[in-house]
This record gives sequence, structure tokens and C-alpha cells, in this order.
Amino acid sequence: MIFYLLYYGVQSFKFEQKDFDELLEQARERNERLDITGKLVYCEGTFIQVLEGDEQNVKDVYNSIEADRRLIATRIVTIGRVEQRYFSGWRMDFDKVSLDSINELENCTHPNVTDYISNAPAIKLLKLLIKQ
Ligand SMILES: Cc1cc2nc3c(=O)[nH]c(=O)nc-3n(C[C@H](O)[C@H](O)[C@H](O)COP(=O)(O)O)c2cc1C
Repeated sequence: MIFYLLYYGVQSFKFEQKDFDELLEQARERNERLDITGKLVYCEGTFIQVLEGDEQNVKDVYNSIEADRRLIATRIVTIGRVEQRYFSGWRMDFDKVSLDSINELENCTHPNVTDYISNAPAIKLLKLLIKQ
């Protein structure tokens, strides 16, 4: 079984393109080494990410992310186990989405990302990551 962890975190400064590039390069290199796959979505200052792989490796990476100064706060939404990886081809897939497109997709009017995340059940967030 594959262990997965879904969390969200808020940026501690405004990310520019070079910051995303640097982050993804670092993440993909370590994920490759630890056989971790997943998806990272950035929406208006908030990152939503799912990490999947061996339980200890995923927890180690999450501990690094939690201590990462590029984020001011992180919170685990859910953890679980699946038969197969959702993101088997991705050492870390990445996309940016706007709150407008989430609201349109979900037929909602959330005023900000935190409002959306705190009201969305974990399965909905997971589906959003899979869809993006
Ligand atoms: C939003 C965000 C997502 C990240 N995703 C990953 C990831 O998927 N894999 C990873 O190894 N590091 C990721 N990192 C980087 C880690 O926080 C950390 O800097 C890196 O793993 C090196 O950890 P270490 O200094 O404890 O060795 C991410 C950082 C941020 C801010």
C-alpha cells in the first residue's frame, strides 16, 4: 500500500517564478531519491500538496516542509493509504490555479483560499489536485 499525506501551507513571502523553479528543482531531486510522487498546487499564496510513497519517507519530507521558512503555517488535511499512486508519473507535478477558477469549478463563492480549504472535505481537495 502507498501512504499519502495531504496538507496545505501559506507562503511567508510573495513567490516569484524563480522561487517556484528553485523549490521544484529541490523537491523533485529529493522526491526522486526517496521514490516520492505527488502534486503541488499554488492558489493565491497558499500551497496545497499531496505526497505519496513510503510512510516514513513521506513523513520525513513533510517534517522538512513544516520547518521550511518559505511557509508560515502548514496543516495536515488528511493521511491515508491507497493501492496505487495517483501521480505515478510525477516526482512533483505543479500547477497554479486561481480562486475564481476553483469557485467556478465548484459552483461556490469562497472569498479566499482559507475559506475554501476549511470548508472542503479532504476528498474534494484530493479531487481538485487530481483534476488540475
Ligand atoms: C510548498 C513547498 C513544497 C515542497 N515540496 C517538497 C517536496 O515535494 N519534496 C521535497 O523533498 N521537498 C519539498 N520542499 C522543500 C522542503 O521544505 C525542504 O526544503 C527540502 O526537502 C530539503 O529538506 P532538508 O533541508 O531538511 O534536507 C517543499 C517546500 C515548500 C515550501
